[in-house]
Amino acid sequence: MSLLSLALVALYASLALAVQPIKVQGSNFVNSVTGDRLQIIGVAYQPGGSAGFKPDSGIDPLSNGTECLRDAAIMQSLGVNAIRVYNVDPDLNHDMCASIFNDVGIYMIIDVNSPLGGESLVPGEQLEGSYNAGYLNHIFSVVEAFHNYNNVLGFFSGNEDMNDVPSGGPVPPYIRSVTRDLKNYIAKNSPRVIPVGYSAADVRDILADSWAYLSCDIDGNDNDMSRIDFFGLNSYSWCGSQATFESSQYNVLVDQFSKTTVPVFFSEYGCNKVLPRVFDEVQALYGSEMTGVMSGGLVYEYYEEVSNNFGLVWVYDNGTAELRTDYDNLQKQFNKLDSKALQSGNSTATKLTSPKCDASLISSTSFNNTFDIPSIPRGGQKLIDNGIPKPNNGKIVPVTDTKVTQNVYDSSGKLMTNLVIKPLPNDQSNNPSGTDSSGTGTGSATSPTSTKGAAGQLNVPATAAAAAAALLIYNIIF
Ligand SMILES: *[C@@H]1O[C@H](CO)[C@@H](O)[C@H](O)[C@H]1NC(C)=O
Ligand SMILES: *[C@@H]1O[C@H](CO)[C@@H](O)[C@H](O)[C@H]1NC(C)=O
Ligand SMILES: *[C@@H]1O[C@H](CO)[C@@H](O)[C@H](O)[C@H]1NC(C)=O
Ligand SMILES: *[C@@H]1O[C@H](CO)[C@@H](O)[C@H](O)[C@H]1NC(C)=O
Repeated sequence: MSLLSLALVALYASLALAVQPIKVQGSNFVNSVTGDRLQIIGVAYQPGGSAGFKPDSGIDPLSNGTECLRDAAIMQSLGVNAIRVYNVDPDLNHDMCASIFNDVGIYMIIDVNSPLGGESLVPGEQLEGSYNAGYLNHIFSVVEAFHNYNNVLGFFSGNEDMNDVPSGGPVPPYIRSVTRDLKNYIAKNSPRVIPVGYSAADVRDILADSWAYLSCDIDGNDNDMSRIDFFGLNSYSWCGSQATFESSQYNVLVDQFSKTTVPVFFSEYGCNKVLPRVFDEVQALYGSEMTGVMSGGLVYEYYEEVSNNFGLVWVYDNGTAELRTDYDNLQKQFNKLDSKALQSGNSTATKLTSPKCDASLISSTSFNNTFDIPSIPRGGQKLIDNGIPKPNNGKIVPVTDTKVTQNVYDSSGKLMTNLVIKPLPNDQSNNPSGTDSSGTGTGSATSPTSTKGAAGQLNVPATAAAAAAALLIYNIIF
């Protein structure tokens, strides 16, 4: 390496400090330094093959810097500014992945729960028992692992815990309790306030109630720690090029959330009933009819899992990646957005006072309308007061390698050469790039084609199942 390139590396390492942390202001996400509004342009990031969530083998979606570098380069040219990661192991080292995404201006929303025993609330009979100090220790350890990364946009305290009408009875108070405990832990133990929200299934009968229940203020002093800071909706109602703002019922959503006092966004979207996906909903989501109310969304999902037809990119076990037609289509939609107008949109939104919680906010008869939420389980308060024992605190590290070392093929099978991440100076977040990746590859087409048997079986298909369930629910309702 020449002295010049060493100097350049040092320059990059020092220039790309960190994105600016995001805070919640009224119903908007805003850049805490510039005051600009942030519209989430995101993807769910959940490796689906055998390289997924395997804590026993030291693997989670943010543990392998080589893979994150490849994916960050692919996402940067796609134009996203955020990822959602469902399952993380707080004991692993995420520094390189977090730093890579940070360098390219991509925020991370982290779910604190995991499918492992004791690491999530259990619906039904075991609900009360599963809310215990061991569980709290787990979710607090996720906070410890991630709170030093400036590009953590928020934590999800729960995902689709209310996934049918009956669960709307017992579960909501627990979501508020977990949210309260996380926010208290962050207030006491994190260097900055990180927002905590909930990700809802699209069960229209209880959707408005879920949002109203979680975003109101119990004690009326507007500083209620059990109130969510943002509300995500997993939405699959816009399918194919025939769908419209009305047929997808996006108009109903906008109406329903028009008085929201917290940011609302799609924590998953991208119906796959019509393939390949054309993602026309992108223009609606980031258009004038919705941006006044919604804060963008995350496409489900970056990785194609074995024939789930939700993926933008196919990745083989050996790290070779192939862009899919869905990637090209989504990129074209993102490129049409006026990202400058979008991201500097509304810096004037004032803090909104949330309504005081009251039974009258709840309309469904089976949904919980009491706001007497469970107090923290025995041993929990001590964890908050003293911090958990032996926290594994991550930290941003310099990213010196910017060149993707694994083979990436475009959707026509051409090898994409010179694929790199481009660290962003001046603490910017990433925006649609204007790049059209279909047919940008060079060199001979030696691409692996459609033999997908090589990928391992899904280890934790929790969210794929959830998405399938959401679709099913959608089909039943409409
Ligand atoms: C509402 O939550 C409270 C507190 O957890 C609980 O006692 C009550 O049974 C719940 N109501 C319903 C309808 O499930
Ligand atoms: C800006 O914020 C105000 C107050 O929250 C809201 O009424 C308005 O619709 C927003 N405008 C845009 C373009 O987001
Ligand atoms: C990262 O993943 C690649 C496959 O994409 C694998 O070859 C490599 O060994 C992994 N690195 C580590 C440190 O596990
Ligand atoms: C990775 O695996 C795929 C599918 O088995 C194969 O076609 C490709 O040649 C492999 N790439 C490398 C670099 O080994």
